[in-house]
Amino acid sequence: LDNGLVRTPPMGWLAWERFRCNTDCKNDPDNCISDRLFRTMADLVVSEGYAAVGYEYINIDDCWLDKERSYTGQLQPDPVRFPYGIKDLSNYIHSKGLKFGIYEDYGNYTCAGYPGILGSLELDALTFASWDVDYVKVDGCYSLPRDMDIGYPEFGYFLNRTGRPMVYSCSWPVYQIYAGIQPNFSSIIENCNLWRNFDDIQDSWSSLESIIDYYGNNQDSIVPNAGPGHWNDPDMLIVGNFGLSYEQSKTQMAMWAILAAPLLMSVDLRSIRPEYKAILQNRKIIAVDQDPLGIQGRRIYKHKGIEIWARPISPLYQNYFSYAIAFLNRRTDGTPSDVAVTLHEMGLVASGGYRIEDLYEDVDYGILTPQTKIKVKVNPSGVVILRANVQPSYAPTTPY
Ligand code: DGJ
Repeated sequence: LDNGLVRTPPMGWLAWERFRCNTDCKNDPDNCISDRLFRTMADLVVSEGYAAVGYEYINIDDCWLDKERSYTGQLQPDPVRFPYGIKDLSNYIHSKGLKFGIYEDYGNYTCAGYPGILGSLELDALTFASWDVDYVKVDGCYSLPRDMDIGYPEFGYFLNRTGRPMVYSCSWPVYQIYAGIQPNFSSIIENCNLWRNFDDIQDSWSSLESIIDYYGNNQDSIVPNAGPGHWNDPDMLIVGNFGLSYEQSKTQMAMWAILAAPLLMSVDLRSIRPEYKAILQNRKIIAVDQDPLGIQGRRIYKHKGIEIWARPISPLYQNYFSYAIAFLNRRTDGTPSDVAVTLHEMGLVASGGYRIEDLYEDVDYGILTPQTKIKVKVNPSGVVILRANVQPSYAPTTPY
C-alpha cells in the first residue's frame, strides 16, 4: 500500500504470542491485557534501548474490547481493563515518542469473540483516527474469505478517508489460503502494508521451522510480493520467551532479517534475559532487515539439513548487489556442521570481490574474491549470518 508508511518493515512490540487473551486482571494483574501492560511495555521499549535501535510501534492485539459496542454503536474498550479509554493510552504512547497500534477483525467477531467491524467499517475507521491510532491489524475470523477481496480494500478506503496515515496489516491471504482460494496478491499489495500468509507462530522451534519451510517452499510466489510499503508477515518474534534455545533465537532473528519481515517482538520485556535482549537489539542484523531496497531473500541451497539463504541488499556497485547470507543448520546430530562454499557458487560474482563480516560474531573476513571458498561452522538449529558488501573493481592501469 502506497500510503508513505513502512518503507522498511515495521518494528515494534505486539501483545499476542506472549500475552494472548488473558483478561483475568483480578488474579493476574501483571499479565492481563490492560492499559497497564501496554504502558509498561512502552516504558521499557524506551528505557531498555529498543526504541534507540528502531522498535517503534506498541500494538494491542485481540481481547481489548468490551463485549458490546456503545449505545451510539462505537467500539469501546473493556472499562475495567482500560479505565482511561484508548485515547488516553494512545496519548501516553505518543508522549514516549512511540507509535500506537490496535487490532480488529473483518467479521462479525474477533477470533476471541469480541465485536468485529463488519457492518461498521466507516464508523470504526473514524473511531481509530479519533484515537490517533498509527497501525491497524485486521484479522479474519467470523467472516467469509471470498468477501475479503472487497471487504479489506473497503476498510482500507475508509481508513484512508479519515486523513490519518495508519499502517494497514491484513490477514486476508492466510484466511483465503485456508479456504482454498487463490489470493489476489496484486490487490493485496495495493491495499495492505503487510499481510500474513501462514499459521500463527507458537512458542516452539517446530512452529518456527514450519514457518521457515513455508517461506522457502513457496518462495517463488511469495518473494516478489515484498517491497517498500508492502511486506510479507511471517508473524511475531518470539525471542526471549520459553520455547527457543539461544541458538534457535539467533536463527529466528537472522531469518526474519533475510525475509524482510516485520520485527514485532512478543515477549515480556520486564524479565527478558540479557543475551536474548542483545539478539533483538543486534544493530547489524536490524540493518539487514531494514535495508532500503526492500528485496526479500530466498533459500538458495538445501541439502542434508543445511540451508543457505541469501538476500540482496545495498550498497550496489554497477549492477551488483551486496548480500546478507544465512547458513542454517537444521540437523540434530549435536555437533556443529562445517559448510564450505565459494562466493561464486552463491551467486556473488562481482570481480572486485566482497567485504565480508559475521553479524553475530566479531569476525571480519576482509575482502574476498568470488573464487574464494568461505568456511563456516554452524551450530545445530543455529545460524551463521554474514554481510557481503560488494567492492568496486578497478581496471588495471595501462603501463607507459
Ligand atoms: C489470529 C491471528 O493470526 C493472531 O495473530 C491473533 O491476532 C489471534 N487471531 C487473536 O485472536
